[in-house]
Amino acid sequence: MLRIPTITGLTFVLALPLGAQEAADAVAPEAATSLEAKAAGSPVRADNWMVAAANPLAVQAGARVLRDGGSAADAMVAVQAVLGLVEPQSSGLGGGAFLVWYDAASGQVTTLDGRETAPLAVTPTLFQDENGEPLKFFDAVVGGLSVGTPGTPALMEAAHQRWGKSDWASLFTEATELAENGFTVSPRLAGLVENDAERLSTFPATSAYFLPGGTPIAEGDTLVNKAYAETLRIIASDGAAAFYDGPIADGIVQTVQNAEGNPGVLAQQDLSIYAIKERAPVCITYRAHDVCGMGPPSSGALTVGQILGMLESYDLAALGAENPESWRLIGDASRLAFADRGRYMADSDFVPMPTQGLVDPDYLSNRAALLGGDDALPEVSAGSPAFDHALLFADDISLELPSTSHISIVDAQGNALSMTTTIENGFGSRLMAPGGFLLNNELTDFSFRTHTDGVPIANRVEPGKRPRSSMSPTIVMQDGAPVMVVGSPGGSRIIGYVAKTIIAHLDWGMDVQAAVAMPHLVNRFGTYDVEEGTSAEALAEPLTTLGYEVNARALTSGLHAIAIGADGLEGGADPRREGIAIGE
Ligand code: GLY
Repeated sequence: MLRIPTITGLTFVLALPLGAQEAADAVAPEAATSLEAKAAGSPVRADNWMVAAANPLAVQAGARVLRDGGSAADAMVAVQAVLGLVEPQSSGLGGGAFLVWYDAASGQVTTLDGRETAPLAVTPTLFQDENGEPLKFFDAVVGGLSVGTPGTPALMEAAHQRWGKSDWASLFTEATELAENGFTVSPRLAGLVENDAERLSTFPATSAYFLPGGTPIAEGDTLVNKAYAETLRIIASDGAAAFYDGPIADGIVQTVQNAEGNPGVLAQQDLSIYAIKERAPVCITYRAHDVCGMGPPSSGALTVGQILGMLESYDLAALGAENPESWRLIGDASRLAFADRGRYMADSDFVPMPTQGLVDPDYLSNRAALLGGDDALPEVSAGSPAFDHALLFADDISLELPSTSHISIVDAQGNALSMTTTIENGFGSRLMAPGGFLLNNELTDFSFRTHTDGVPIANRVEPGKRPRSSMSPTIVMQDGAPVMVVGSPGGSRIIGYVAKTIIAHLDWGMDVQAAVAMPHLVNRFGTYDVEEGTSAEALAEPLTTLGYEVNARALTSGLHAIAIGADGLEGGADPRREGIAIGE
């Protein structure tokens, strides 16, 4: 067990992932040292560069690149290539990602959208049965129907082309060797395979890899993925174009279209026309900082921004981290933000969105006034942000289960990268492409219904559209320079995890490791989730008295954060998962 003192001395207790120490010991001393810092509740400190991500092997690959003088974009490519092998359930070549970049030379923040797209052949009723009723979630997830055009390979290349310094092919060395010679299965991967064995056994290629001979791979096994090694060699030599056209692409299309029982419509044309999109970053002001992140099709920066924007006028620092009043304010600000998210947020290339109106300070100040009472808001509904289109949308609540992975990097030049990367559900669609990677089920992030009572839902399925995301890769800036890089997996709870970590660091003065580890209290649609087995449960009774329905449950974030200060860099890795931070 890991004991984390809070600023007021109250102790939060968290379980360190079983076997994580052994996993780190097995790879290298720097990983073990980093894990020791995490277990002690201390950030990893460094002067020059830092990388934090979900698996020690991936972090070490990124550290090697940074140590050799590579940029944060170079290191990301190496980290992502290894994550797709050692944490295949969360992200990989078959998925999509959003990237926020701070450029030290220009002082600019840029966001790149590598989200999956809906195939051109989809219809609005993709996830409905013959009576127009939504499919059961996992009936939609497992198989080809849910697979969107992957964006991650194109995003890796786009980031490298813009900001890379290292030789592209060299960035795949660790991942290729690990795939060719085998890597040690981590406790987390083994546990998740065992839990998901029934679904993973649906398709022969997936079953053969994760359940060889019908038995789930176990912690400590050496797992070889020669197909993935070959895919990486091709991409290293020919670039991402070789992923979107040729044998790798053909393998993806065949796998999707021939998925037994649940074929999809992804076609070569969808892969050929896939493009990364640069989007305007969404930034809001909070406690004299600019909190910048990914705009539509992610709801991340807008919803985190709305929560923080509403809280700006309340003195959370004075109230403190253990005060139910702080959590009433945070919880109801979240509920109000989620109401707007459900109504207005989607892919703005397809639906008009009041993007500016949603984070307009006057609008947020009016919404914040709703928090002025003493008890939980009895009712919450979407507001009326300034909108330059007369269009009415119906509310959408899509089911988004915890998944995904987050990478935070600062390089020696002072560039900062925050990237959240996903194949959506754990193990995605459960379809394994012949190239040795899992295919996403990102399309189930769309609303399964298209309309409510005749009113269209903004996040409905449309050809070529990108499903709404909750991913919230964030860079917090002060006076034009980055001071914090943060993000997390966790489905739509990502938003709460990221907002809480920023509040813990800026309002409650916690270092990034304490802020990341601090027990979660998350409210999205009304029910207050408190992290079970932690001292957050002590807040259950006061929150119930305030009028909330409280639910104690596991809240498995995977936060990775880096703080950048006058004394250097501090890295934090979520004790709920196997990740680490390494810096020098
Ligand atoms: N599929 C997770 C997300 O995009 O939020």
